[in-house]
Amino acid sequence: MKIRKAIIPAAGLGTRVLPASKAVPKEMLNIVDKPAIQYIVEEAVASGIEEILIITNRGKVAIEDHFDHAFELETQLKKSDGKEKIYEDVLAVSNLANIYFLRQKETKGLGHAVLCARSFIGNEPFVVMYGDDVIISDDPVTAQLCRAYEEFDKGVVGVKEVSKEAIAKYSSLDVTPIRDNIMQCNDIIEKPSPEQIMSCFAILGRVVLPPEIFSLIESSKPDSRDGEIYLTEAMATLARQGKLNAVDFVGKRYDMGNKLGILQANCEVALDHPEIGDDFKNYLKNLVNNL
Ligand code: UTP
Repeated sequence: MKIRKAIIPAAGLGTRVLPASKAVPKEMLNIVDKPAIQYIVEEAVASGIEEILIITNRGKVAIEDHFDHAFELETQLKKSDGKEKIYEDVLAVSNLANIYFLRQKETKGLGHAVLCARSFIGNEPFVVMYGDDVIISDDPVTAQLCRAYEEFDKGVVGVKEVSKEAIAKYSSLDVTPIRDNIMQCNDIIEKPSPEQIMSCFAILGRVVLPPEIFSLIESSKPDSRDGEIYLTEAMATLARQGKLNAVDFVGKRYDMGNKLGILQANCEVALDHPEIGDDFKNYLKNLVNNL
């Protein structure tokens, strides 16, 4: 079945990037000249997604404004000589996709945020694109995962191998290879202690799920450490039922939820930027020489 719908949960508190995320949603922090969430919406569109639901909450109206028309600005730019390209870029953002918004009234975790989207999704498979994970790839990662879903008719989690030290912050997967970069996922454990690590494959930023995930989330218990409803527990149940695969995706992932990730994203995207790439490279070379 073709995947048509995406959810972008963007209602988290962003405590790891405070104070930057105090009045500006962390999903709106920029990478060179676009906010992080625009890269994610563009990836969805490039992957053939037709409808996008962004989960927000109080204090995140900047996300809604970003994807809306800005009539005053557009009118001014349209009249100004030499600003045609900027006008087109600004206009294009509001015409990117069919985007809907829904508020998660309490920050009760990623699983709860996904559950809020139940009536939007209905009875079809869908992709969850974590609002603070930007993944740059010629072949969009969401498209890579959707192809695997359509081929095997099973849920798919996007994974990458991380270091043994880093896996404690993510989820560790028990996997069996199928072919190429596709594996069967047999089990998942969130934030494993060293003796619980099953592999260093961790879920990073993108998952494609069947609609039955909603009832699994509903029966998930809030985490004893922070009271949040994680998505991992429901996905682990799916894995143990033999209904989940993992794709070791091709792409560079940037964690916009932490300070170093934001800097890495800006630095690497700037180096490839058509307008400032060469100047930035020269600047960086000089800087490095003087370190
Ligand atoms: P994170 O756990 O990375 O986001 O969730 P956070 O809670 O904002 O992070 P810190 O730890 O406080 O810095 C991954 C994604 O899920 C969204 C976040 O906005 C982020 O894009 N999320 C998280 C929700 O939409 N609702 C929630 O209740 C929690």
